[in-house]
Amino acid sequence: MRIAFISDIHGNFTALEAVLADIKKIGVDEIICLGDTVSLGPQPREVLEALHEIKSINIKGNHDGAILEPDKSAFYEITEHLVPDLHWGRERLNNTDYDFIKSFKNTHALTFPNGIELLAFHGSPLSTTHLIKATTDSGLLDSYFEGQSAKVLIGGHSHIQMQRRYGDRLILNSGSVGNAFVFAFSPGKPPSLLPWAEYAILEQKDNTFDVDLRRVYFDIPKLVKIVEASDLPGKAWWIRQYVK
Ligand SMILES: [Fe+2]
Repeated sequence: MRIAFISDIHGNFTALEAVLADIKKIGVDEIICLGDTVSLGPQPREVLEALHEIKSINIKGNHDGAILEPDKSAFYEITEHLVPDLHWGRERLNNTDYDFIKSFKNTHALTFPNGIELLAFHGSPLSTTHLIKATTDSGLLDSYFEGQSAKVLIGGHSHIQMQRRYGDRLILNSGSVGNAFVFAFSPGKPPSLLPWAEYAILEQKDNTFDVDLRRVYFDIPKLVKIVEASDLPGKAWWIRQYVK
């Protein structure tokens, strides 16, 4: 059984296209999207249409929650300067799109053929805004995963790929498709992006279990053109990431 995990696309359809082409080449049984699908980037509708088409299992991220409830952007921990981008994305969606986002799940559990249980989420199983890093304190991890029988735990939200073995558990982050951060986010400092898309493929076959944290290079000049042609409030930041 081979499963692809994509997360934190953030409206970057150019990056998503490249990742989906890579997934198609490899071939997977299922695609699970770990949230933060449409807000911030230039092509929210294209991203939703693609998710619809691939029939992925979709989990709600904090930005997905905020797109549905923009008045609660602080609750969803959306940095203040990103709120105009959130509204810009929201204005490009229709009621069918909102209903689609409303259908996203909080968590998703599955069992591999050999009995390994996996739990997928955005921040943690408890909240879309919990941030799990390689350095997150063990006390916090214990509280986030209390009562969970799954031994493989995979989320997004940090925008940084991670494989951390914690006792007999494996804590993974598939990274960000559309916004791979150079360093972990710190409040008050706009993040910088890496020029590639990140995602993960997990495979259980016979007596092995593989984690493949993949990096896909996408068409940056194409993305820059799309951003330049838009009136996205965060346009200058996007262009700065790629045009030095
Ligand atoms: Fe995100």
